[in-house]
Amino acid sequence: MTSEFTSLPDTDPTRVPPPGCPAQGLGPGGLHRLYGPDAQDLGDLYERLREQHGSVAPVLLHDDVPMWVVLGHAENLHLVRSPSLYTRDSRIWSPLTEGMVKPDHPLMPHIAWQPICSHAEGNEHQRLRAAVTAAMSTIDHRSMRRHIGRYTQGLVNSFCERGRADLVSQFAEHLPMAVMCEILGMPEEYNDRMVHAARDALKGTETAIQSHAYVMGALSRLTTRRRARPEDDFTSHLVTHPAGLSDDEVREHLRLVLFAAYEATANLLANALRMVLTEPGFRAQLSGGQMTVPEAIEQSLWDEPPFSTVLGYYAKQDTELGGQRIRKGDGLLFAPAPGNLDPRIRPDLSASMQGNRSHLAFGGGPHECPGQDIGRAIADVGVDALLMRLPDVQLDCPEEELRWRSSIASRHLVSLPVRFEPKPQQDVDGPPRPLAVPSPYPARQAAPARPGQEAPAAAPHPVAPHPAAPRPAARPRGIWRRLLHWWRGE
Ligand code: HEM
Repeated sequence: MTSEFTSLPDTDPTRVPPPGCPAQGLGPGGLHRLYGPDAQDLGDLYERLREQHGSVAPVLLHDDVPMWVVLGHAENLHLVRSPSLYTRDSRIWSPLTEGMVKPDHPLMPHIAWQPICSHAEGNEHQRLRAAVTAAMSTIDHRSMRRHIGRYTQGLVNSFCERGRADLVSQFAEHLPMAVMCEILGMPEEYNDRMVHAARDALKGTETAIQSHAYVMGALSRLTTRRRARPEDDFTSHLVTHPAGLSDDEVREHLRLVLFAAYEATANLLANALRMVLTEPGFRAQLSGGQMTVPEAIEQSLWDEPPFSTVLGYYAKQDTELGGQRIRKGDGLLFAPAPGNLDPRIRPDLSASMQGNRSHLAFGGGPHECPGQDIGRAIADVGVDALLMRLPDVQLDCPEEELRWRSSIASRHLVSLPVRFEPKPQQDVDGPPRPLAVPSPYPARQAAPARPGQEAPAAAPHPVAPHPAAPRPAARPRGIWRRLLHWWRGE
């Protein structure tokens, strides 16, 4: 791709500029920027690119650095599953080797090669990844689910008596950090300051460097402590793994795991809660038992993957993808957001994807997310327990007023204000106890279905808003079984 964008015209007739080449200029019919005014609505831009170019489109990153964005579902899978053709090692990326990407490029934190498993390949990738996955395999999922339930109870206790909350800053951004600090072996480091520092470091504000240093300070201390005296936690297993990670490698992988888990899972929680609060059909299906919370989380992973794109993959040789000629050294954006909406696999976007987990949210191939079960568990248990505690929770602003912060890598809600009847605190070590509350939907009138979706069957009784609300006589066994399963960590 680079040569197409940067070389002088040559005489090879197969190298005519493709549609969208800068030779044809910027704007409609020409190249599109994934930043600035062009990119106010990246979702819309990806669909226009799909129409113009098909499943792989040429685009420009900041400073007009050329890149391909992969829009097709099959093409994205091919990209991540073909390590002989594509690597995550940016050191072969032509715009970088040719000096087109300046050291202060805004996407440098995503691009710059680092000695971590995300950027490694072959034997080195296997060595580093083996240590990470082995340390993850020692996590006891039952006790992890109990921790998630306990932290959820504590977070809900912090706002339940007020009747109002912001579910982004008071819940979604806290729960993954609390759980990850526990898993890594530093529960004492979880506090407001750690949450703010991680958020700030990811936002890239003026204080990002200090915030990053604050998080790294905690991870360094933890590495030193566990090197001196290993215990039974993720960090200790990373330190003692036969792959023999150095202290630097341990710290860098703790950073990778903490930030990946925090950012992705906070986005997932916020997205899933927004869906429950703003799409009445969705909530009615949850309440009516036609959909479980894990299924709702999976639907959210299809519709709004927590990482919209992953920067990047780089071609190791000349090849072809989605009808485009890819040259050695070209860069490609792995793109779960448009890939999940590919009309070839989802001709009707309003149709439910229940039971189908083949979305791209966790990547695929050798770099597929090794923490997906942890991310799913935090979202499943957290959302379920929150809805159990606050069955009458409702959005506290018109839906149109919700704001998102978007970048090429992710799109996340700035806040999610909610209101509910004030409730008493509960014991954090007990299961969440539901309280009977009035339904937000008028009696005998089922909530509308999502567009294009079958409406829930007409209810012979008033439709209950959530399992916590009173139900017809035959239903309570299901509620208690669900509670029991939750409490046992099943
Ligand atoms: C909902 C939550 C999550 C989502 C959507 C998510 C998504 C992803 C994606 C898209 C990748 C990149 C795949 C690629 O490069 O092709 C990735 C990699 C990774 N994720 Fe996750 N992730 C989540 C949660 C977590 C959690 C909880 C952890 C750790 C406990 C974690 C640890 C990692 C690591 C270590 C990698 C790098 C793997 C490698 O390069 O070999 N992630 N994740």
